[in-house]
Amino acid sequence: MKSKVVVITGSSRGIGAAIAELFSQNGWSVGINYAHDETAARAIYQKIVRPGVTSLLSRVDVSTYKGIEELIERNIEFFGKIDTMVFNAGAYSYTHFNPLHYRDLHVLSPIHGIRIIASRMKPWGEGSIIVTTNCSSIQGNSTYNDAGNIRKEINDFVHSYSLDIAPVTLNAVAPGIIKTDMLNHCDPSELNLDIMRIPLGRAGTASEAALAYFFLANASYVTGQIIVVDGGLNGVVKSQNRTDPHSS
Ligand SMILES: NC(=O)c1ccc[n+]([C@@H]2O[C@H](COP(=O)([O-])OP(=O)(O)OC[C@H]3O[C@@H](n4cnc5c(N)ncnc54)[C@H](OP(=O)(O)O)[C@@H]3O)[C@@H](O)[C@H]2O)c1
Repeated sequence: MKSKVVVITGSSRGIGAAIAELFSQNGWSVGINYAHDETAARAIYQKIVRPGVTSLLSRVDVSTYKGIEELIERNIEFFGKIDTMVFNAGAYSYTHFNPLHYRDLHVLSPIHGIRIIASRMKPWGEGSIIVTTNCSSIQGNSTYNDAGNIRKEINDFVHSYSLDIAPVTLNAVAPGIIKTDMLNHCDPSELNLDIMRIPLGRAGTASEAALAYFFLANASYVTGQIIVVDGGLNGVVKSQNRTDPHSS
């Protein structure tokens, strides 16, 4: 039997690489994508190579419309079909980025890509699309404006667009603080304060986040949902935002 195919943007490191590993361990063929770090991309490619599992490594900057279109078409041409497409690429405080670039990478390009892959999956009659957002896109956190809060638009898009593309499913995963290279760009003292507020008492791992993607890829009766993977942090922010009804 032909293996299922998952394509993951930003899968050379961090959460994307953990998703690639988990799907590959479960017999899926994997389309890996990266933009800059060739060494990391080759390392994950080597790690997931196994009999019966085909992989494609694509260096494509997916922050542009042209880039995301090219990645999708290249993978369909290579694999013949994509069963699950994950829009995961992201960046935080890359010094050469301006705020508009963050919006291109985290909001505009994924929305454009979701429309393209949905139009390809609809005639196939099946498929699942998963997009990474950020738990701060739900309650807000001023520290994470460019990587988090601006993704609220993605959450709204997932809720509404999922209605248009059934039976193809569309869901989001909203991670909290996950131990990846991305955390190296955060202010250490602010990060420690945030970690201390997490009810489960620690940052999550990329493998723990990857489980949510694997669930959604296999959950044929779940669509239009945002799955939060944050050790409970979002609930803390919510209760802090609540006004005390007894105060005058
Ligand atoms: N870690 C967290 O705490 C956290 C929390 C909430 C949300 N998130 C989101 O989760 C996703 C994954 O984050 P992570 O923590 O795994 O980050 P990471 O370890 O820094 O990995 C980022 C990945 O995205 C790729 N990438 C960046 N810009 C790209 C571009 N223009 N085109 C193609 N690929 C690109 C990187 O490849 P190159 O190095 O080759 O560029 C890398 O594979 C991001 O969308 C992030 O915003 C993370």
